[in-house]
Amino acid sequence: MSIISKDIQKAVQLLTDEQLVAIPTETVYGLAGNIFSEKAIKSIFSTKKRPFFNPLIVHIPSAEALENVVTHIPEKAKLLADAFWPGSMTLVLKKNSKIPDLITAGKDTVAVRVPNHHVTLALLEQLPFPLAAPSANPFGSISPTKPSHVENYFKNELQMVLDGGACKNGIESTIIGFENDAPIIYRLGALALEDIEAAVGKIAIKNKKEQSPDAPGMLARHYAPKTRTFLVDDVASEIEKHPNKKIGILVFKDTLNDENVTEIILSKNSSMEEAAANLYSSLHLLDTYNLDVIIAERFPENGLGKSINDRLQRATFA
Ligand code: TXA
Ligand code: MG
Repeated sequence: MSIISKDIQKAVQLLTDEQLVAIPTETVYGLAGNIFSEKAIKSIFSTKKRPFFNPLIVHIPSAEALENVVTHIPEKAKLLADAFWPGSMTLVLKKNSKIPDLITAGKDTVAVRVPNHHVTLALLEQLPFPLAAPSANPFGSISPTKPSHVENYFKNELQMVLDGGACKNGIESTIIGFENDAPIIYRLGALALEDIEAAVGKIAIKNKKEQSPDAPGMLARHYAPKTRTFLVDDVASEIEKHPNKKIGILVFKDTLNDENVTEIILSKNSSMEEAAANLYSSLHLLDTYNLDVIIAERFPENGLGKSINDRLQRATFA
């Protein structure tokens, strides 16, 4: 029997009983549990096989609820919350003493967001506790953007995927932290940099590969398909480097007209938003075709192209 269901009351029941439920958001599906239940939080880490040093995002029903989670809200955090919540932005702020160390991996900060999905907002409004929810994929795998992706990963471990359809934005939230009250981007994501800067001015980016990353979404190889993946400017010449191989290609907007490869076009309308929304489901699909290699086309480095390139880069072995 399928674990995919639209029954919000059942999700309320399971979460209240300290069980996990996969929840829809506008970015990707999350693997959710009560932030105050040690049992639920430990099972998030064990289900994902996620290392305990990698902290979780806390999901709250409204910007007003932020006061229950953090001790200090910088002026620019308020501006950002007004501009983008509910939405695809996570703020990292000083945590208050109620937030368990297990959620934050012992850090004195907590990552928080108000997701923009009516099903999960309705769920959060009925629960007396916030939900911790990392993306609902095994550690290092491609994030899920459809209920079936989660079911394929966790049908033996999980009782329920709350069905909210396909995720509208399709890549993870943009994570913004603060140093001396100045905002810094820790992870590029579903918001275009230009839109964030329109709200709070020029902003630094720390989205680099690091040994001990601030946000382990930044570990070098992350969001990765099982198939060996390349990211290049010129897909046609990369194809020539792999003779006699079964090749899948992922291109932005224009077909290559090559009958010998399996091609997915991310947006025939040249829309970066549409391409982002299709990105992970296309990688999931290519990964089912038993290909030898996937060759992805690099995007223009503006708008969401920057975030898409970041995820594609992390999907490669390079
Ligand atoms: O769109 C999203 O953000 C999705 C949906 C489900 O909300 N969630 C998501 O969670 O992508 P996850 O666990 O896959 O990524 C959370 C990222 C990790 O890279 C983690 O290191 C970072 O957030 N993070 C969490 N708490 C942090 C903190 N206190 N300081 C810095 N980074 C933090
Ligand atoms: Mg993740």
